Amino acid sequence: MEFLDKLVLPQSAEHIQLLHYILMLVLFLFIPFISVVFGGTFLSYTFRKKFNKTGDKTFLRFAKDTIQLLTVNSYIGLILGIVPLITIILIFAQLLHTTTFPTVSDLSLSFLLVSAGLIFIYVYRLSFALKIVFDAVETKSADDFVKEEFTSYYSKTSKLSDNSVRLGLILLFIGMWIFTGALTTAVYFDAWKSSSFFATLFSAKVLINFLIWLCISFSLTGVTLLFLFLFWKKNELKVSEDYKDFVIGISSRYALYFSLPIPVLILLSINLLSDSLLSDTMFAYSAIAIILLFLSLNFVYLLYYKKQYNYVPYLFFTFLFAVLSLIIKDQITVNNATKYHSVVLSTEYDKILAELKGEGKGETINAAELYQVRCGACHKFDQKLVGPAHFDVLPKYVGKEAQLVAFIRNPVKVDPAYPPMPNPGLKPAEAEAVAKYLLEEYQKLKGK
Ligand code: HEC
Repeated sequence: MEFLDKLVLPQSAEHIQLLHYILMLVLFLFIPFISVVFGGTFLSYTFRKKFNKTGDKTFLRFAKDTIQLLTVNSYIGLILGIVPLITIILIFAQLLHTTTFPTVSDLSLSFLLVSAGLIFIYVYRLSFALKIVFDAVETKSADDFVKEEFTSYYSKTSKLSDNSVRLGLILLFIGMWIFTGALTTAVYFDAWKSSSFFATLFSAKVLINFLIWLCISFSLTGVTLLFLFLFWKKNELKVSEDYKDFVIGISSRYALYFSLPIPVLILLSINLLSDSLLSDTMFAYSAIAIILLFLSLNFVYLLYYKKQYNYVPYLFFTFLFAVLSLIIKDQITVNNATKYHSVVLSTEYDKILAELKGEGKGETINAAELYQVRCGACHKFDQKLVGPAHFDVLPKYVGKEAQLVAFIRNPVKVDPAYPPMPNPGLKPAEAEAVAKYLLEEYQKLKGK
């Protein structure tokens, strides 16, 4: 994805923050949509197979309804399925600019797979409609030639339909697995040891997050079907009581069984996060998600066992908000993990801006003096004062001057044993001079 990296310009710190918000909004659209498309297609596929086995028309009707209601239409598929993915790729290309991190190329691969998967799923949707038309056609009075044509087209459509739904599901499954892998590695951005593509896919962290997504996909599908049948499309659908009970039974069970494991999986995934990524806000959003999930379980219970259908909008929105909280939780962690890199990027931007403004040209900076005045009060090389002794913290910056400059320009919290370092307010050129000075002094003093 080098060509993307070349397109990206250095960003200001504010712009990077904005990118995080856009990313979150786009994920709000993408994740729920792709979840119900996958879950809905899967349901449709299984019930069509059941129909083929038993010939029970209720199964066929349910298979048709799920695919048609949950994929909405192909424009929505494009807008909510494909456009967000492109946006996510572009945002990560900017957030991880100048790194060799595989997130962007993995996301691009998942984009190809998911797009192809969606196309097959919409082909399935269309062929399903055709099959129903075929089913309704009377061929008794037609002559032999027409009959022959008819049977041939009929079997072709059936085959197309079967093949496309299978391919669509497989592509979406693999595509979303890779997508989860890419987002997970971004969460662990500063701690992820670069491993091979497959090692990443099969790592515990990625597998757990993928399982969470699969559970969300099936339970959200159940919840959405309940919402559509009992509330949103209640008047349009005009279903018989028997069919309604059938739909409620299946949807409630999906909603119930698949949302039960989610809290446990969330706790497991938090358990796997490294300490530096565990922020209070992240815990808060995980807790909110878990509470909302339990609340929605409660609503499913009222609906399924007590037949209190008026709770269905509450169920839908509580569940949706649980999913959104999970997305926020992950994005806060991504924000934390890339904080450091973001500072490096925005430092680059500040430097270019300063050069454009003509700052720092012509005047020579006395780094040693600057250091004494601006840093000396809190730092010594061999002794800790307010801040840590340089000998203790500089080793990790050897050969990484850009990171040191970034830290000095914009200190982030590092060691819990110390208070946070206040921003010393240096100009870009000054920060660079001080960083250089520090590293040179460090090498000199260390030699002694
Ligand atoms: C008001 C006190 C104060 C001033 C002034 C100050 N620092 Fe610090 N510095 C700290 C503290 C406290 C920490 C530890 C922060 C932490 O671990 O979160 C620190 C940490 C550091 C670190 C270690 C960062 C790391 O990754 O562990 C470096 C390098 C550093 N300061 C350089 C400087 C430089 C260069 C200046 C002058 C431009 C400066 N500091 C000015 C208080 C100060």
